Amino acid sequence: MRITLNGQATDLDVDPAKPLLWILRDDLGLVGTKYGCGQALCGACTVLVDGQPVRACQTAIADIVGRSVVTIEGVSGKVAEVVQMTWTKLDVPQCGYCQSGQVVATIALLNANRKPTENDINDALSGNICRCNTYHRIRAAVHEAAKLLEA
Ligand code: FES
Ligand code: FES
Repeated sequence: MRITLNGQATDLDVDPAKPLLWILRDDLGLVGTKYGCGQALCGACTVLVDGQPVRACQTAIADIVGRSVVTIEGVSGKVAEVVQMTWTKLDVPQCGYCQSGQVVATIALLNANRKPTENDINDALSGNICRCNTYHRIRAAVHEAAKLLEA
């Protein structure tokens, strides 16, 4: 099975039912995508598939053959740069465990919507749980990134 992974054509000889999360982490060593709940409930495993945020823990590889997957290791472009910069500037992470999922989900949001409202942010990020309660800094960083992208 072939996917495009972080811009590279990638052939995978694995069980078609295997979740993308375990292919990324165990087979390919891309451990920036985290395992939290394994049930599509926490967002720690969020990656982009054709630009849309998906939960890698509940995505069988057979369901995304031929599609483009971007993980935290492969995010690129203006939006990704600005998001990573604001995350650093506002010192968003605490333990960091949820943050790759938060960043990937934010990149997807800002790629689709350069002026997100509070409700837009809630809709986009409410499925990304942070046990360290960094939500206020995440929200501030999303707004800051949107402002910089507008400028
Ligand atoms: S590990 Fe996938 S949503 Fe929690
Ligand atoms: S920074 Fe620790 S879980 Fe979010």
